[in-house]
Amino acid sequence: MPGTLLVATHNAHKTGEMRAILASYFDEVTDLTSVPGMEPPEETGTTFAENSAIKALEASRKRPGVLVLADDSGLEVDALGGAPGVYSSRFSGEGATDASNRTKLLFELSRPEVAAEPRTARFRCVITIARDGEILASFDGAVEGRIASAESGTGGFGYDSLFVPNGHDASFGELSEAIKNGMSHRARALEKFREWLAGD
Ligand code: IMP
Repeated sequence: MPGTLLVATHNAHKTGEMRAILASYFDEVTDLTSVPGMEPPEETGTTFAENSAIKALEASRKRPGVLVLADDSGLEVDALGGAPGVYSSRFSGEGATDASNRTKLLFELSRPEVAAEPRTARFRCVITIARDGEILASFDGAVEGRIASAESGTGGFGYDSLFVPNGHDASFGELSEAIKNGMSHRARALEKFREWLAGD
């Protein structure tokens, strides 16, 4: 299916990962930074699926005829009852940054009530495909791992420098892009999207 794929995000890291995985399927993979006046919609949903659909539908209504892909993703930490979940990007509150969210995560896991708990966690991602205000498909993906006791590595974004995927001793911040893109939650959801494209 050649043509343009619009990724409904302003997050250059997400777009970069999508482009690395999908470049051969489309003539062009763009994002909202190339579309003037596209403010991100409020993420009012309580699940990744709801927020992913909100983002995909909004962008697809504003760009008629264009195939839109939205991703909503986040980190679930078992010792925190699944938090930060859909609040991953806003975990440390107003003005949150990736760095302040990581600091907050380490602080929450150091609390005496949870400090002895296993640090198991997973990244989840739900991708929604839409065109002209209609949802065409959605796909999910997850990657299991654990939260390290300190940050390591400078690659990736968000919680990458704290997340050690199962089967590795290094964080996503230390592992190469190619390794992350071969096993991440986003890569797994995109793999299902590629199968859908192939059967389309
Ligand atoms: P969203 O842009 O509303 O989907 O928020 C996603 C948030 O989840 C990001 O701001 C990160 O904090 C976190 N996140 C999602 N995917 C990743 C990833 O691949 N690596 C690290 N953090 C991620």
